[in-house]
Amino acid sequence: MIAQEEPRVLEGPRIRLRPVTPDDAKRTFSWYNDPEIVAPFDRFSVDTFEEFERSIREAGGDPTSLAPRYVVALREGDTPVGFVGHYVPHPVLETIDVWYVIGDRRARRHGYATEAVGLLVTHLFETTPLPRMGATVDVDNRPSIALLERLGFKREGVLRSALFHHARWHDIAVYGVIRDEWAAKPRAA
Ligand SMILES: CC(C)(COP(=O)(O)OP(=O)(O)OC[C@H]1O[C@@H](n2cnc3c(N)ncnc32)[C@H](O)[C@@H]1OP(=O)(O)O)[C@@H](O)C(=O)NCCC(=O)NCCS
Repeated sequence: MIAQEEPRVLEGPRIRLRPVTPDDAKRTFSWYNDPEIVAPFDRFSVDTFEEFERSIREAGGDPTSLAPRYVVALREGDTPVGFVGHYVPHPVLETIDVWYVIGDRRARRHGYATEAVGLLVTHLFETTPLPRMGATVDVDNRPSIALLERLGFKREGVLRSALFHHARWHDIAVYGVIRDEWAAKPRAA
């Protein structure tokens, strides 16, 4: 199993990633439990607040956990605007996938998500020996695909009819970036 470090505070030029605190939990939960915010292109299931809190508490010991790992907060005012996570998606392949949500709609299209995912991927490359980081995305999720491509992820293929949501099966694009490519690409974070 891939060992991962405990979350810490990761500082970027405009945003920081920090562990989810009990103070953040209610706000982030309202985003997490709103299908219009987290899942326009994803499957959705309702969690209770207790389940949400427990999953965050226990995520550190479980690399496969889908719980939020960090709050995305604006450095100015330390205002939470979203959250990001990472997980080991496959029982055999050695790869980590990242995921990301800007919950506060007013904070979308400012580049905060790109900065947040950039910080997270850099951190994962620095704290694991893995040569590749990945992400999967609904082929119709244009903002998410734009984010990955802006960061230098490459489309590696498409899993056809791989995820059922919004009453039909959807094709899912597989994206990845290799350590050397990541190191070679200039970025703000
Ligand atoms: C996917 C998601 C996180 C992308 O958020 P986003 O706000 O579009 O992404 P960014 O923060 O990187 O912003 C990028 C946009 O800001 C613009 N921008 C403005 N100022 C910028 C700056 N200083 N730096 C970078 N980009 C900037 C970019 O040009 C880009 O605009 P465009 O959409 O017209 O191309 C968001 O749509 C979301 O939360 N969706 C729901 C959950 C989801 O689908 N998650 C992904 C699952 S795979």
